Amino acid sequence: MKIDGKHYRSIELNENGWSVRIFDQRKLPWELVFVELTSRDQAATAIREMWTRGAPLLAATGAYGLCLALRADPSDENLKRSYDLLLATRPTAVNLRWALDEVMNAVKNLPADKRAAAAYVRTGEICDEDVEINRNIGLNGLPIIRDFAKKNPGHPVNILTHCNAGWLATVDYGTITSPIYMAHDEGIPVHVWVDETRPRNQGASLTAFELAQHGVPHTVIADNAGGLLMQRGQVDLCIVGTDRVVRNGDVCNKIGTYLKALAAYDNNIPFYIALPYPTIDYTLEKGEDIPIEERSAEEVTHIEGKNQAGKIEKIKITQSPAANPAFDITPARYVTGYITERGLLDHIPERVTPQAKKAV
Ligand code: MRU
Repeated sequence: MKIDGKHYRSIELNENGWSVRIFDQRKLPWELVFVELTSRDQAATAIREMWTRGAPLLAATGAYGLCLALRADPSDENLKRSYDLLLATRPTAVNLRWALDEVMNAVKNLPADKRAAAAYVRTGEICDEDVEINRNIGLNGLPIIRDFAKKNPGHPVNILTHCNAGWLATVDYGTITSPIYMAHDEGIPVHVWVDETRPRNQGASLTAFELAQHGVPHTVIADNAGGLLMQRGQVDLCIVGTDRVVRNGDVCNKIGTYLKALAAYDNNIPFYIALPYPTIDYTLEKGEDIPIEERSAEEVTHIEGKNQAGKIEKIKITQSPAANPAFDITPARYVTGYITERGLLDHIPERVTPQAKKAV
């Protein structure tokens, strides 16, 4: 993905081969701030405080956090303590647990002095695989957009999305943005309705920023506007990402996703979920079993933006107590299809094994 014409991954090793470069996503779209992660605790803070976020990117950051931990102290005790500490940073996106398990399995039977190097190798693979998965999600989602374009020649395909499941939520490409970028690149007119996604505004700050960087026409809307646009025929399809999908196909994603799925269902609008295989949690049967992160009330009572003098400022918008459940569950019955690296699926298959490179 490019910013001002320069290609970046959302997370990368620095040239020294061990410290990790991320963007401080709290500063976007106003400033491009790079952060160097040099310790496990810093990686944990970056996840907890959402300098970095999005299910696949949490996986990559957590895995690098374990690398940094092992570089400092490769003992059994530190491996276990660091795994637990990183896992506790954010509870809902299952990709974090998946990646920590991957690294744990790659190192736990090795002698201590070999662990850090093996952890870096496995984490590098996780990152490369994420890029390949998202490219394949793009290839598998592209025909859906092409079909809409064929049905209505000369008109843009209007896609509604929620939160940020773009390249800033992954290592590259994004999940929902991958087919959109491919469609745009092959000349299909697309237009994206971007839910602002209160309380943290990942849509307005991150998805809109990404789409602008790629030159994709888009419009930011208040979270409550989508239903009306659907009733008016201004939305052709919805595509959202997910933090965890369980065996029965229920989908956990950023708070507000469920309401969009209901509105789409009522208006006969297809509602697609884009996801990589590490987002599937085979240990859980149904959506209500997924732990829903409760975040600070301050994310609701306050809002941040640029003031008229051009300074970033946080202001209070209510004096009342607030609640902040960060995710919701969309039941499988409202999902039209799952766009995966293996293809477009109408249900969650029994077991998905890594196939990114063979998918298409
Ligand atoms: O709280 P966030 O910003 O980490 O939530 C992100 C989302 O809900 C994304 O839609 C999801 O992680 C999918 S990212 C490909």
